[in-house]
Amino acid sequence: MWVAKKCVFLQIKNLKKSMNIKLGKIDYRSLDRPVIFLYGSDVASRTLPLKRDEVLFLDQRRKDDISSLVVFNRLPEKIYVQNFDSDMPSNETLEKLRKFAAELQLLLCKEKVEKVFVTGEGVIPEEVVAFVEGLHMASYRFDKYKSKKECLLKEVVLEQHIVEQAALDENVRLWQRIDSMRNWVNEPVMQLNAERFADILKEEAEKVGAVKCTIMGQKKIESMKMGGLLAVNRGSVDEARFVVMEYKPADRINKKPVALVGKGVMYDTGGLNIKPDDYMTEMKSDMAGAALMASTLLAAAENGLRVWLRAYLPLTDNRPGKNAYAADDILTMYDGTTVEITNTDAEGRLILADAIAYASKDDPELIIDAATLTGAAVRALGTKVAAAMQDGAEGPLNLLRILGGKVYERLAELPMWKDYDELLKSDVADMINCNLHANAGTITAGRFLAHFAHGCPYVHLDIAGVAFYSKRESFYGVGASGFGLRLLYAFFQMYDALI
Ligand code: BES
Ligand code: ZN
Ligand code: ZN
Repeated sequence: MWVAKKCVFLQIKNLKKSMNIKLGKIDYRSLDRPVIFLYGSDVASRTLPLKRDEVLFLDQRRKDDISSLVVFNRLPEKIYVQNFDSDMPSNETLEKLRKFAAELQLLLCKEKVEKVFVTGEGVIPEEVVAFVEGLHMASYRFDKYKSKKECLLKEVVLEQHIVEQAALDENVRLWQRIDSMRNWVNEPVMQLNAERFADILKEEAEKVGAVKCTIMGQKKIESMKMGGLLAVNRGSVDEARFVVMEYKPADRINKKPVALVGKGVMYDTGGLNIKPDDYMTEMKSDMAGAALMASTLLAAAENGLRVWLRAYLPLTDNRPGKNAYAADDILTMYDGTTVEITNTDAEGRLILADAIAYASKDDPELIIDAATLTGAAVRALGTKVAAAMQDGAEGPLNLLRILGGKVYERLAELPMWKDYDELLKSDVADMINCNLHANAGTITAGRFLAHFAHGCPYVHLDIAGVAFYSKRESFYGVGASGFGLRLLYAFFQMYDALI
């Protein structure tokens, strides 16, 4: 135990710095780094220093394939011209540019390029920002435990007239938050248990400022009678934590807080209903919901968004052993509801139920939760889109869906009808935690949680399919994706549209 804790402390301090992104001016006559040129127009370029035959070549390549990459050698540097169609600026075009950036990043990596210049023609600021966003996200690696690290981009200079400094700074702070969120999710449980994660959140809150962070320990959780969190924690050798963060700016636009609840299962073995064969692998990512909600609040604070937010983060791992909770156990939850356990692997909804009930007592105007909750969500929707449900929060979910299309972190809505409640009936308690033999696993999990919102407008996000990728997924890379942070940030940027 002592060794593990010591190790955690040393390693987490060892995080590398994020990519440096700044504005500057390019001089083609004395290039000190390669240039990435985003070419969105069909009119012959006026800024690229090309010879006549090169212009013709570029034109032809562009005609053959509007998404082509053309490389001009200006030894010792290169000019990478990324063609695309800027005629119809759309969500799809922006996503395409992020993906181009991910492909180009692989190439730059191979060529050991550490610094680039980004500019373009026939391109709008939004498109350049999307491209640089892709470049930043694709350049993330969780490589702190690797002795030999890949060569990665360290510095991007953006042509100065293209984007405003303030807008760039806001984006860069958000992208750095995505890096830090991904680091938390990628960290194994031996390095990052509930206690340590809670401490890190407090340290982050202090660093950012304007954020209050309260850590409730085992004793406090016991005295509050959070039956769900306590039951899941029983098999663990580590203590549970319940973290509440608050960002309450003076110029806030909302009169009541928005509650952000995140599933913080530091590792999900399944508990006594232990996960078979390789189903357990990657379950260090079962705290991605908590990482996402904490990061959303911190990003809002860092950028001075005018929204009052509270994050509620129940943290524990789920293990067999010790006096682990078992199927057939009956729990009394924080709000007094009794729950019959049918499977200890449906643990997320138990810790979330307590946190949602606790949050609902603070009278929030909206509760949003994010959780890697069900394998059923992955089966239904795959790994491109998150599942979303709402109870009394049609407006907020509609806005989230529209913005999901814009930042391309998309949501697919599933119904949240009361009809499904009959699948959660228990013979001996108020509810069962899951009906193993029933279909609609994602919806019943959502219905289970909605019970604990006690009538507060409620949005549920099941991010099981998108939080962590076992195979490389474009600019999201491999491992923790950071999915959801750009979406929730955009939501709170636009939050006044709901008021
Ligand atoms: N953490 C898992 C869900 C999950 C699965 C997340 C795959 C990411 C990828 C959750 O706690 C779980 O084990 N859910 C069970 C529920 C079942 C026992 C009703 C599942 O989905 O299999
Ligand atoms: Zn589970
Ligand atoms: Zn889980």
